Amino acid sequence: MTRLPKEFLFTLLEKNPIADEFRKFHIQLNTCEKGFACSCPFHSETGTSCMIYPETHIFYCSGCGTGGDILTFLMLMQNLSYPEAVQILAQRNSLTVPEQSPEEARLIQQRRERCYEINRETANFYYLNLLRSPDKRGLAYFRERQLSAQTIQKYGLGYAPDDWQQLKSYLNQKGYSDEELVLANVCRRSDKGNVYDNFRNRVIFPIVDVWRHVIGFGGRVLDDSKPKYLNTSDTPVFDKGRNLFSLHFAGQNTPEFLILAEGYMDVIALHQAGFENAVATLGTAITPAQARLIARYTDQVIISYDNDDAGQNATQKAIQHFQDVGLSANVLHIDEAAKDPDEYIKKFGAERFRLLLKHAESVLDFQMNRCRNGLNLTAETGKISYLRRCMPVLTRIGNQKTQEVYIHRTAEELGIRAEVLQKQITQYDHNQKNKKIRSDFQLIENQTRVRDQSTSQASQAESESEKIILCWLMHFPEQFRNLSDQLQPEDFITDFHKKIYNLLCRILPECTGFIPSLLGSALSVPEMCRVTEIFIYYRDKLNEQAVFQCIQNLHTKKFQPSDKANMSDDDLLQIIANKKKTTRFHY
Ligand code: UTP
Ligand code: MN
Repeated sequence: MTRLPKEFLFTLLEKNPIADEFRKFHIQLNTCEKGFACSCPFHSETGTSCMIYPETHIFYCSGCGTGGDILTFLMLMQNLSYPEAVQILAQRNSLTVPEQSPEEARLIQQRRERCYEINRETANFYYLNLLRSPDKRGLAYFRERQLSAQTIQKYGLGYAPDDWQQLKSYLNQKGYSDEELVLANVCRRSDKGNVYDNFRNRVIFPIVDVWRHVIGFGGRVLDDSKPKYLNTSDTPVFDKGRNLFSLHFAGQNTPEFLILAEGYMDVIALHQAGFENAVATLGTAITPAQARLIARYTDQVIISYDNDDAGQNATQKAIQHFQDVGLSANVLHIDEAAKDPDEYIKKFGAERFRLLLKHAESVLDFQMNRCRNGLNLTAETGKISYLRRCMPVLTRIGNQKTQEVYIHRTAEELGIRAEVLQKQITQYDHNQKNKKIRSDFQLIENQTRVRDQSTSQASQAESESEKIILCWLMHFPEQFRNLSDQLQPEDFITDFHKKIYNLLCRILPECTGFIPSLLGSALSVPEMCRVTEIFIYYRDKLNEQAVFQCIQNLHTKKFQPSDKANMSDDDLLQIIANKKKTTRFHY
């Protein structure tokens, strides 16, 4: 996108404080000296590594390296392009984006708006079809599943007719083109180019986001045919990994805890039985983004998955994601009498289910039970397998007292001394930590790919010098004229830094104050993250003398090939230690 006029950009930034935007997404902010700190919405953590700097309109997470301005934030949170993010903010403040042809502006906005409209029309069509069509199969199905008229209405459940064209014709008549219907995924296009209804002869579960837009659908067959459920695939307004079914109901009124079930039907049955705080994923395993989403509404989850192997394995995965974001999780144990919450409530009623909730087991007990699964603990081989399986579980227990209790309990079960088990755990922990350091290093490497693209040949020192120079310029734009005489873009050895320098050369001469947003339109999201990092992290190293030294460094550059792949573990760990020292400051 062409660069936005500065005045317009600043108006956008000032009218839409970045901290408020975080709050809109239910991200809790703590006030601190420089601005705000919060749990990072872009990686899973229990801490608060993400900082918001209101003065310069930026955020930056020192944990994962994601950073930028409000536009970067929106692009990442809502999967938008830069022009789309600009458009959304502009529209919110009734501003017109300058230099954007009215045509272009309309198209961007229209695409999403039309998707929402099509979804709403579609939901309405299926709902009315369920109630009014002479074909009563959908209604009969919901009756058989004991859903009340009230529940059907509340969820706007529907029925897709047994027909290839009905929805398409209906929406065509309302003025929606085939292209739009395919884009919203309510229709599909065959190889031959024919457009037809995506959902046929299925009961329909509309998926609604917390802003009450209909964003997609799940459709279930009425019998045992396959696939049982069909879900909307990703569209401009639907991302199954970032939304949860029924969160718009469950998240109301700050719930004490949320119930995470596997299926749409479970959530609806729970809701009907009075448990309005239930949600489900949208046809996929739970993602870290969904765990973070839940963490914005509550600090406790009860996982209530199906009573089969798949459900139990999924529980294990969900636990991990919840722990990563500091959510306290419990696991509901449905006994063999029922396969899922829906069936349980039908058989035993809401009150019995409430008891189950009350007695949900701790994650720890769930995991230890799983370790015992299928083993004969009276046999030697069974004991050894048990020991191997419970090692990671015991190691991860954060609370020392709890860990001690469980170590004693387990040692007793195994008929060994607790000290022996304790020693094993210490050793295991040590090995794991070394592994983690290596993988963290890989992560840092991956995240700095943009930055270091062409520096595999270049020394770290020169790349650092470049960053310091760039940071200096960003904080003291008035020094540009002075410095630009001494420094040519060709002096930069890193492609990325050269690109930033070139951009600064264009922008700074007309600048009195610089903020990273001024580069936003010219950068990708990862590039914006790196610029924000440079802007923040090198601030402490700034003084004229240091910058002068950096320029000298670039003039007398020496290449020192570094080949990390062939390094010994010790060398690698040394580099990481240094790297952390030299590049990470904490505010
Ligand atoms: P379940 O098979 O447990 O479905 O799948 P359910 O909701 O309990 O439905 P009933 O009781 O059999 O009617 C759990 C979830 O997995 C997804 C759906 O989101 C479903 O709600 N799923 C399942 C699919 O996306 N596709 C499938 O073919 C099956
Ligand atoms: Mn079910």
